[in-house]
This record gives sequence, structure tokens and C-alpha cells, in this order.
Amino acid sequence: MDVLCLSFISFKLLLFFSGLCYATTDTIRSSQSLSERRTLVSKDQTFELGFFSPGSSKNRYLGIWYKKIPVQTVVWVANRLNPINDSSGMLMINRTGNLVLMSQSTSIVWSANLTKVSSSAVVQLLDSGNLVLRDEQDGNLGTYLWQSFDYPSDTLIAEMKLGWDLKTGFERRISAWRSPDNPSPGDFTWGIELQENPEIIMRKGSTKFYRSGPWNGLGFSGSPELRLNPIFKYKFVSNEEEVYYMFNATNKSAISRIVMNETSNALERFVWNEENQSWKLYASVPRDRCDNYNLCGSYGICIPSALPICQCLEGFKSKSLESMDWYQGCIRNKPLNYSKADGFIKFDGLKVPDATHSSVNRSMNLKECREKCLENSSCMAYTNSDISGGGSGWTMWFGDLMDMKQFPAGGQDLYIRMSASEKGANDEHKNIPIIVFTTIAAVAAVAVLLLIVGFILSMLLLNN
Ligand SMILES: *[C@@H]1O[C@H](CO)[C@@H](O)[C@H](O)[C@H]1NC(C)=O
Ligand SMILES: *[C@@H]1O[C@H](CO)[C@@H](O)[C@H](O)[C@H]1NC(C)=O
Ligand SMILES: *[C@@H]1O[C@H](CO)[C@@H](O)[C@H](O)[C@H]1NC(C)=O
Ligand SMILES: *[C@@H]1O[C@H](CO)[C@@H](O)[C@H](O)[C@H]1NC(C)=O
Ligand SMILES: *[C@@H]1O[C@H](CO)[C@@H](O)[C@H](O)[C@H]1NC(C)=O
Ligand SMILES: *[C@@H]1O[C@H](CO)[C@@H](O)[C@H](O)[C@H]1NC(C)=O
Ligand SMILES: *[C@@H]1O[C@H](CO)[C@@H](O)[C@H](O)[C@H]1NC(C)=O
Ligand SMILES: *[C@@H]1O[C@H](CO)[C@@H](O)[C@H](O)[C@H]1NC(C)=O
Ligand SMILES: *[C@@H]1O[C@H](CO)[C@@H](O)[C@H](O)[C@H]1NC(C)=O
Ligand SMILES: *[C@@H]1O[C@H](CO)[C@@H](O)[C@H](O)[C@H]1NC(C)=O
Repeated sequence: MDVLCLSFISFKLLLFFSGLCYATTDTIRSSQSLSERRTLVSKDQTFELGFFSPGSSKNRYLGIWYKKIPVQTVVWVANRLNPINDSSGMLMINRTGNLVLMSQSTSIVWSANLTKVSSSAVVQLLDSGNLVLRDEQDGNLGTYLWQSFDYPSDTLIAEMKLGWDLKTGFERRISAWRSPDNPSPGDFTWGIELQENPEIIMRKGSTKFYRSGPWNGLGFSGSPELRLNPIFKYKFVSNEEEVYYMFNATNKSAISRIVMNETSNALERFVWNEENQSWKLYASVPRDRCDNYNLCGSYGICIPSALPICQCLEGFKSKSLESMDWYQGCIRNKPLNYSKADGFIKFDGLKVPDATHSSVNRSMNLKECREKCLENSSCMAYTNSDISGGGSGWTMWFGDLMDMKQFPAGGQDLYIRMSASEKGANDEHKNIPIIVFTTIAAVAAVAVLLLIVGFILSMLLLNN
């Protein structure tokens, strides 16, 4: 159509008003609408919004996909629950300023559900892939009445937040499509769980499926391999106003997306490969069997390279008599005293335990943490809450420790409460004075030796 317009430039005005020709645009105003025949294209041509049919389905959905990527990759769907069964779909801003999707047979198919009435609302598809509704009379371009980034489908793209606005209690959570033909929300979801020590959790229905492990200042405890990479940077923000995870491309031409897949039960990050014009799988969780939530039971440790992969932590034995059944977890060889008489054994290279029942203090050091943990009979482990810059703050776990994994490299230290009679439970804090004493003694001994040698030498010289 655009080509037609250019060649018959004198008819352009006529064609425009007859509705046969449109210049590409990223915006719809109150008087305009978007039908099946048109799309919105973001300014830099990265994203496109329009109607599509997923897989082999004939249903019509309003969605956003990458304009320049030939394999249509939908990142957002508006009417996930209410497909349109003909080509009468029409997106518009109605007279009270609401963004509505209409069809011939069912009238309002989907709406942005705005409560605020606005007479000068415009909807725009931004270069980030965010579809935003704003008041044209509001000079602040960053203030939105509504935005698609707040209602994610199965995909997280750069600059989208996964998590919570704590002031309003609003959550942004990802949910897989039911199937490649049906974008309605499946039971496989991914979101941040609000607890004193938040974690990103994947659930299958209401059951925990995979957890990221808490944020440790460098990354998530369960993904030590992702801390540094050339493609994207990411952050985790947790304060009084919001808790969210977000990633951003380090280079605008590096396109990557995270998508949940109900068919493969995986959360996958793809990176666009320009040379081969295809999506390349960059990372996927669960990575191995050890990522299955709590596979080894309490006080069990999952080691991907071991056989069997479930083992008991040092100082523990299998709960079940048949040693082949390691899924039931482990019990202590020696009972705790539940007093200051107990000690700790340091384990390293771990994904730290499920943080649902844990507590964080960013201003105290590990030594104070040890004392505080011993004072509380349900405190079973502690470690630094932030491992960047040598470590700071603490996290304490209460109750049985679950879902731990051993990494060959990059895991975290964890101090686990043990009976003092368990060999090695006199932990390093008690060893430090001994080491210091030994060092002082060694230095003193060398100094004395040097003095004696010097004395003998000087005596010899004097005698000559
Ligand atoms: C489309 O859906 C409407 C309402 O659900 C229904 O009345 C109509 O018969 C359907 N049309 C077709 C072609 O299936
Ligand atoms: C605009 O759409 C909203 C949401 O569907 C609806 O509540 C409102 O009544 C509509 N306004 C008009 C003028 O139709
Ligand atoms: C709008 O409200 C209706 C009715 O409460 C609800 O079914 C629908 O899911 C809402 N739409 C969005 C986009 O939140
Ligand atoms: C971004 O990536 C493109 C293509 O790989 C490359 O040509 C360009 O130099 C990169 N820019 C930066 C700032 O790294
Ligand atoms: C993401 O990175 C782009 C440049 O690659 C930058 O323009 C943008 O401001 C960044 N967004 C956020 C939220 O940091
Ligand atoms: C999910 O995985 C299946 C099979 O592995 C694949 O055919 C499908 O395209 C994937 N869906 C998404 C949204 O990536
Ligand atoms: C593109 O595909 C070819 C053949 O499959 C492969 O050899 C090459 O490494 C790929 N390029 C990139 C950048 O992955
Ligand atoms: C627990 O500690 C107390 C006081 O130190 C001691 O008397 C008692 O024997 C200990 N009990 C066990 C089971 O170790
Ligand atoms: C952290 O510990 C310090 C020192 O004991 C205490 O003053 C502070 O209130 C604690 N903070 C929290 C959030 O518990
Ligand atoms: C131990 O700490 C937990 C969590 O902070 C708390 O609920 C419990 O009351 C404490 N128990 C004791 C004996 O202080």
C-alpha cells in the first residue's frame, strides 16, 4: 500500500481518506481505530502490533511481535482468554478514553479496564515493545495510564519488570500459553514470591517447580553461571516500594527474550542469531534433575554429577531404611542440644536452602549472626546475605533445610547447625584465635632465632 501511495502521489490524499492507504504509524488517537488490515509499528521498526492466529488455530488475537524477525515471535497477547472467531476485530480508544478491543459478535472482547476517564488519550507502541496509553495533554511522556508491560503473557523482554509494586499490591507474573495454538494462561507460572527474603519461583499449578535461590548481591544463588555475560545485564531490586527482576541488553542489537513453555516445562532464554536468522537457545531452567524443587528432601544435597544424585549432608544419614530411597530426606547422626552448646559446620559451593522461612539483616556481620542463630532453637543455618566485595550482612534459616544443590564452581558458603560432638562443628570462628596464636608464636620464634644467629655472628666477628 505504501508503494502504491508513493507512485500515485497525487491520489495520496484521496486514498488516505478512502481508507485504502496508510503510512505506518506507532500511535492511535481517540478518533482512530486499528482493524485487521493494519498494524502499529514502533518508531525504530523493532516491534509490531496487530492481529494474528497462533499455530494451527483459526482464532484471532491482538498481539505484539518483532517486526524485523521473519519467524513470527509473539511476545504479548491482549485477548488471551477471549479469541475473536472472525476478522471483525478492531482496537480503539473509546469516548471515555479506555483502550478496547471490539468484535462484531461479542462487542467488547477485551479492555484495558481503566478507571480514570480521559478525553485526550493516545495509545502508542514504543521501541521497547511496550504498548502504552497516555494522556496527550500530560506533558510527561513517561507517565502512563496503562501499559502492556504490566500485563505480561509468557515472555519477558528487556526493560520489563517481573515482580511487585508494594504500594498497590500489584503483581506482574509470567504464565505459559496453554499450547502453541492457545495463548490462554496455562498453569505454569513464574513470579517473585513475597517473603522477607524474596525468591523467584516457577510453579506448576500451586506446586513449587523451581526456585532461583535468593539474590546474593552478584546474582541468584541457584544460577552462578549467569553472573557475567556479554549479552545482557540484569538487576534485582528489593526495597519498600517494589520488588522486581529486570534485564536489559548490553547492546541494542543483541535481542533476547525469556519465555515459559508449557509443553517442555522449561523457562528458556533465546538470543536472536542475525547471521543464521534463527533463535538460539542461550539458557534454560531446569538445567538438570537437581533443579527439580526439593528432589532430595530435607538435609539432602543434590549433586548433578553424583550417583545417586541425592546424598545426605555430612553429619546426616538417610531417613529411609532402604538406602535406595533418597527422596525422603536425611536425619542427623547426633541430635542437637538446641543451646549455645551446638556448633556449625561450613559447607561450600551450594545453592542455599529454600528461603521461605529465613530472615535477613544487612548491617550485621557473620560473627554476630552465629551468636544470634545459636540463641534461637529453630535457627538451623546462616550465611552472608551479600557475597559481593568479600561478603556482608546475614541470612538465617529457620526449620528444616530444603532444596540444596552442590555446584562444581561458584556456589555459596553455608554454616549449618550441628551437635558440638559432631567432628568439625567447632567451626572456623573458634579456630581463628588458634590460627592467630600459632602465627604470633611462629613469628616470635623466627625473631628469637635471628637474634641468636646475629649474636653468635657478632661474637665471631668480635673475636676475629
Ligand atoms: C463466533 O462467536 C460468536 C459468539 O461467541 C458466535 O455467536 C458465532 O456463531 C461465532 N461464529 C463462528 C463463525 O463461529
Ligand atoms: C469504554 O470502555 C470501558 C471499558 O470497557 C467501559 O467501561 C466504558 O463504558 C466505555 N465507554 C464508552 C463511552 O463506551
Ligand atoms: C477487565 O475486567 C474484566 C471484568 O472484571 C476481567 O474479566 C478482565 O480480565 C479484565 N481485563 C484486564 C486486561 O485486566
Ligand atoms: C553491538 O553489536 C553490533 C553487532 O554485533 C556491533 O557491530 C556493535 O559494535 C556493538 N556495539 C557495541 C557498543 O558493543
Ligand atoms: C536499556 O539499555 C538501553 C541501551 O541499550 C538504554 O537506552 C535504556 O535506557 C536501558 N533501560 C533501562 C531500564 O536501564
Ligand atoms: C515449546 O516447546 C515446544 C516443543 O519443545 C515447541 O514446539 C514450542 O514452539 C515451544 N513454545 C514456545 C512458546 O517457545
Ligand atoms: C550458523 O549456522 C552454521 C551452520 O549450522 C554454523 O556453523 C554457524 O556457527 C552458525 N553461526 C552462528 C553465529 O551461530
Ligand atoms: C546440652 O548442653 C548441656 C549444657 O551444656 C549439657 O549439660 C547437656 O548434656 C547437653 N545435652 C546434649 C544432649 O548434648
Ligand atoms: C539488624 O541488626 C542490627 C544490629 O543488631 C539491629 O540494630 C537492626 O535493627 C537489625 N535490622 C533488622 C532489619 O532486623
Ligand atoms: C526464632 O526466630 C523465629 C523467626 O524470626 C521466631 O519466629 C521465633 O520466635 C524465634 N524463636 C525463639 C525461641 O526466639
